[in-house]
Amino acid sequence: MMFGKIVSSKQEGNVVKIQFEKRNGRIEVITKDIINVFANFESEEHNSFAIEGNKVIPCEIKVTQEKDHILISTDSLTLKVYDDFKVDLYDKNGVLLCEDSREGRRLNETFDREAFLELIASEGHDVQEESKLHTIEVIKKMQGDEAFYGLGDKTGFLNKRSYEFENWNSDLPQAHNEDFKALYKSIPFFITLRENGVFGLFFDNHYKSYFDMGKEQLDYYYFAADKGNLDYYMIGGSNMAEVVSNYTYLTGTTPLPQKFTLGYQQSRWSYETRKEVEELAANMRKYNIPCDVIHLDIDYMKDYKVFTWNDKTFPNPKEMMDNLKENGFKIVTILDPGTKVEDGYFMYEEGKEKGYFATDENGEIYVNQVWPGDAVFPDFSSEEVRNWWADHEKDLIDTGVSGIWNDMNEPASFRGPLPLDVQFAHGEKTYTHEELHNVYGSLMSKAAHDGLEKHDKKRPFVITRACYAGIQKYSTVWTGDNQSLWHHLQMAIPQLCNLGLSGVAFAGTDVGGFGADVTKELLIRWVQVGCFSPLFRNHCAKAQRRQEPWTFDEECLDIYRKYVKLRYHFLPYFYDLFAKGEKTGLPVMRPLVLQYEKDSNVKDMNDQFLVGDSILVAPILEQGKTKRMVYLPQGEWVDYHTKEVIKGGQYILKDAPLSICPIYIKSGSVIPVGPEQNYVGEVKEDILVLECFGENGSYVHYQDNGEDFAYREGEYNAYEITMKAGKVTAKQIHSGYEKAYKGYQVIKDGAISSIMEFEK
Ligand code: GLC
Repeated sequence: MMFGKIVSSKQEGNVVKIQFEKRNGRIEVITKDIINVFANFESEEHNSFAIEGNKVIPCEIKVTQEKDHILISTDSLTLKVYDDFKVDLYDKNGVLLCEDSREGRRLNETFDREAFLELIASEGHDVQEESKLHTIEVIKKMQGDEAFYGLGDKTGFLNKRSYEFENWNSDLPQAHNEDFKALYKSIPFFITLRENGVFGLFFDNHYKSYFDMGKEQLDYYYFAADKGNLDYYMIGGSNMAEVVSNYTYLTGTTPLPQKFTLGYQQSRWSYETRKEVEELAANMRKYNIPCDVIHLDIDYMKDYKVFTWNDKTFPNPKEMMDNLKENGFKIVTILDPGTKVEDGYFMYEEGKEKGYFATDENGEIYVNQVWPGDAVFPDFSSEEVRNWWADHEKDLIDTGVSGIWNDMNEPASFRGPLPLDVQFAHGEKTYTHEELHNVYGSLMSKAAHDGLEKHDKKRPFVITRACYAGIQKYSTVWTGDNQSLWHHLQMAIPQLCNLGLSGVAFAGTDVGGFGADVTKELLIRWVQVGCFSPLFRNHCAKAQRRQEPWTFDEECLDIYRKYVKLRYHFLPYFYDLFAKGEKTGLPVMRPLVLQYEKDSNVKDMNDQFLVGDSILVAPILEQGKTKRMVYLPQGEWVDYHTKEVIKGGQYILKDAPLSICPIYIKSGSVIPVGPEQNYVGEVKEDILVLECFGENGSYVHYQDNGEDFAYREGEYNAYEITMKAGKVTAKQIHSGYEKAYKGYQVIKDGAISSIMEFEK
């Protein structure tokens, strides 16, 4: 990636255009905290599927020509641009955050790689792709103390240092391990935390990309791609939380979801008949497990044809859903992009006639195979195709469906991957599969989202497996086909925390594990984590042992119930976090390092997490274990089970028999809690209940109708709560939603106060 020496530079508003000997480059100041580094390798302008609209916030920019570099600074960041388009970034205090390497990569090969690959292939081993140099390669010097976070749903540990990754949305059937380079999602954003600084880097290139966080060599890390532009954003902030906020300013925050989506959800591939679904719902109530959503996997369809119902196994689905709704259940149905090739099938016929499907290089409709057999792939890059898909959702919605679950949208295909030259040509621009692959899931989710918004008029509930950066605006995600393995439970924490740091606040794993057979103990330990994860859904594959809460014995059922109920108890707190997150971009489920970045004990903490900043969860993640070491950061913490107050800044040993998931509440926390109920909204909440810990603290609680967009027009209430020397007062500070609370009650040390009035 040679640029040569700087020849000249010119400032035009917030852009500094730089002519180098061999290529042009451009620095664009987006906000005082966000600087874009760009060079045309494909197009003159950004070609982004993550950033929508003009994000520039004018700020003061100083540009000066120094002896050997151009200096560009805002109030927060300083960038020095040198020959060969090398850039170094400093914070406002002049602390070096990040420095381009002035040397190339050093491939580490001292042997005949090709001969070796041939040899191991003959033994039947998977052959890893050869490492190679890339057209676009940005190599940053490792200063030595970096920890890396983010990168979406990658496997492995919280801190990505020393590992390499690729972004190429992949549905891999093997058990996901820490050495996997790619899974279903591509979010080319990472945060670098150093002792003296923190920044984010978003490489907005949706082609296949490569990230090496110091695996190849110890003294540099790099990111790369072979197509697209050199187009990356350096994102500052005075701490990690600000970096996340700035990244989500750029790519969007997670909007407040409907309240019921935060309730417990039950799924299985598949509940195969109407009768089975109705029995499931009855069992949820019989066994007293609160539940808001039941998911219908592919078997509700006729021959796996999207937008159809199998009327033999699901007669009169409207009646089924009407009845379920009366009892507090919502139904979410799965949709896959692969549309069955079948003469006379309306989706196939309509799409074929209008030219909505991807084609091969000769313009013939491209056919591969998915669940329905031969299948074709809608061109979701075209707005018209997205609207067509969205309008077909109307039937599902009119029948009673409350959300859409998008699957297999990498897209997955059974007869080998789609060739890179498959064409998506319906829209204004023709895309190759090579370009569209990583954003296909996001575009399909946008279609699903728009359909719900248009026809349901409520806040759309979409779940997707595949996506690109920025997906949070349109969909929640789940981490795909994990397995009932202890190391997958362990991985759930860093995976969900890194998704949160990558802007995706609404995410979950298949509780209990999708593949393999769950054990009683694993199911219990998983629900203890799942009840604190933003999306709380138990899902499992056909042919695997069932994992509904009552599958095992009474003990399992009781413990399972206890944690589902705990979720409903904390549900108003979760909802508040989402309401705040829509503004700040901060995740609901957080690694400790997000709140305590100066504490070196939490840099690599994979087995504990926070919900907001008040609840610390230290679950048991190993078979047979009934005690664990817990790290409590600075401050004072209250053991949620025993109410013991414990000084932070230390490791403690906690007893955690099967029924106990260690939970600690930060002293000074006020947590709004909900009533015991079978589903969200069953019990009228006209009194605000606050569970308080410690003596001094404050909190703002949010309330709205939990369903539509009226809150954006001011139809919400906000309450400010103050706790001083143990005395709790509350006052309504915004009033816009008609069903305001009539008063409040305080729970302290297990006892509940009488109803008190809000201060005037
Ligand atoms: C995929 C999904 C899984 C689903 C199955 C059948 O494997 O990841 O969740 O159950 O397809 O639709």
